Amino acid sequence: MFIDMRNISKSYDKVEVIKDLNLKIEDKEFTTLLGPSGCGKTTILRMIAGLETPTAGEIYFDDKCVFSDKEGINVPPEKRNIGFVFQDFALWPHLTVFENVAFGLRARRDTKNIEERVIHALKAVRLGEYRDRYPSQLSGGQQQRVGFARAIVTRPDCILFDEPLSALDAILRDEMRVEIKRLTAELGVTAVFVTHDQMEAMSMSDRIVVLNKGAIEQQGKPEEIYQRPRTPFTAKFIGKSNWLDQNAMFRPETASLEKKDGYKVYRTVVDGVQFLGENYQLYLDAGGKQWIMESPCRYDIGSDVSVYINEDQIVTF
Ligand SMILES: Nc1ncnc2c1ncn2[C@@H]1O[C@H](COP(=O)(O)OP(=O)(O)OP(=O)(O)O)[C@@H](O)[C@H]1O
Ligand SMILES: [Mg+2]
Repeated sequence: MFIDMRNISKSYDKVEVIKDLNLKIEDKEFTTLLGPSGCGKTTILRMIAGLETPTAGEIYFDDKCVFSDKEGINVPPEKRNIGFVFQDFALWPHLTVFENVAFGLRARRDTKNIEERVIHALKAVRLGEYRDRYPSQLSGGQQQRVGFARAIVTRPDCILFDEPLSALDAILRDEMRVEIKRLTAELGVTAVFVTHDQMEAMSMSDRIVVLNKGAIEQQGKPEEIYQRPRTPFTAKFIGKSNWLDQNAMFRPETASLEKKDGYKVYRTVVDGVQFLGENYQLYLDAGGKQWIMESPCRYDIGSDVSVYINEDQIVTF
């Protein structure tokens, strides 16, 4: 199912938080909405789900209009056939894993083969053995899997994920990224994923939509956004960027600490060093600007470092 948001705006108490948004989410793609806190990511998801009413505009699911202010159309959330996975899991503490997943089906009185369907969803998220436990008896990652099972059990056309991994530790987060990708691909479902973690966005998405203050800053494939940012905001928000001036930057991996023919040399001084395991991250003072470079060896603070820049790889705005 594709989703088409046309000229959508949303105001709270006369403050416009979404401004004339035109956003198309392609069928069966994994689309990530990426942007800083408060830019409107959750608001967009909630409007798609029908949990929030836009102030103006139209929303289409395929050719079906689910919201239009002019036509007075507003399909209620339970009729939109969408799954929602929340940041804080939002499980019922007094219900077992099985009953948490069955809840949505019972609420819709859609109880045919309920046992089989719930077990199937629990197996898909590898929680088949946990059906009789309560949420308090599960780890964070297991609770979030219950959240996924609950979102997929109704066989939705689209699943919305609102920062589902932010409460998990780094290793578990990595595992769950792979799992979410596997599950959504297997289900052949359209996925809209919200995060403010750029690594998460780049590693998971078919398409990234960068948002800034309630409007789209840039959208495209992860590689496009990373290699060809169209604005300084996108360049700074995704990946590391070293700035030559306000309108020109390069990615650290396109430059070198060793002399290279045809590259232009810049003299810098080491300001700080961080050990990252596979290498060291150097913080360099390049005539008042702070650059980041990676190095296989440690440098002393205050030492001089030459950075060789490939001018073909400089992105200008
Ligand atoms: N119910 C509400 N009443 C008033 N203002 C709201 C309400 N919900 C959200 N806002 C405002 O709308 C803007 C967008 O909020 P939203 O929750 O969509 O941001 P977000 O991008 O999801 O941020 P975060 O990354 O922190 O979750 C914010 O300025 C927020 O304060
Ligand atoms: Mg949010």
